[in-house]
Amino acid sequence: MAAVQKGARDTVPLRAQALGIDLAALPKHVAIIMDGNGRWARRNGLARLLGHREGYRALRGVLLTAAELGIKYLTVYAFSAENWRRPSDEVDGLMKLIEKAARDELRAMHQNNVRVNVSGRIDEVPAGLRNALESGVETTKDNTGITFTLAVNYGGRAEIVDAIKRIVQDGVKAEDISEELVQKYLYNPQHPDPDLMIRTAGEMRWSNFLIWQAAYAELVVTDVTWPEFGETQLLGAVKEYQRRTRKFGAVVE
Ligand code: FPP
Repeated sequence: MAAVQKGARDTVPLRAQALGIDLAALPKHVAIIMDGNGRWARRNGLARLLGHREGYRALRGVLLTAAELGIKYLTVYAFSAENWRRPSDEVDGLMKLIEKAARDELRAMHQNNVRVNVSGRIDEVPAGLRNALESGVETTKDNTGITFTLAVNYGGRAEIVDAIKRIVQDGVKAEDISEELVQKYLYNPQHPDPDLMIRTAGEMRWSNFLIWQAAYAELVVTDVTWPEFGETQLLGAVKEYQRRTRKFGAVVE
């Protein structure tokens, strides 16, 4: 009996409750700007790409924790439309790392009922990565667990530009354009807006991530770099989120 109780206490939801987190008021959609891989690597005397590799390890843990906690949507900024400006060996390394992750993790994600999604101008990334991402989306499309979205070659402004192009191509009349209509032309119109946006490594910027969708997201910035981010920090961010009063522009007494 004692062993059963000990095992039960070992689950993420119970650890969250022990911290005072209300499991009935979790953010439905958490978005993460995974920053600080380079700083973590420098601090540890390592090459930047090794920082990204540690970032991949951290992401694997955070996805499992978020799923176990009961988060329904997790979206992470893996490569921004602006990241092409980095040195070519870092860009190549990141493309290969994301491709390797997409291939190596697919089986485990599928077994864990994860639904994989992508966001961004995927047609512009190397074919190997594009194929790996597309096969992840296709294989897991009927899964009913957490929806895990990789933003790759993603830019918030680019997403809005792409939406406007398609709205014009569809011949939509000016008087028919509304926020709801624009939403329908985004990359993942079926996703709810993020409730909680987490950024690691201390900077207080949006960096062009989900700028339409995050209009009312609660922003939590952690000092730790992304490779150091784990369950403790995720639960800390959720706890901080639950301390906020969300007003959506209205007055809340
Ligand atoms: C920002 O850190 C991080 C990125 C540009 C890439 C994020 C990529 C990963 C976490 C790698 C694994 C991803 C997947 C999907 C497997 P930075 O390099 O800008 O850090 P710095 O500001 O300290 O230099």
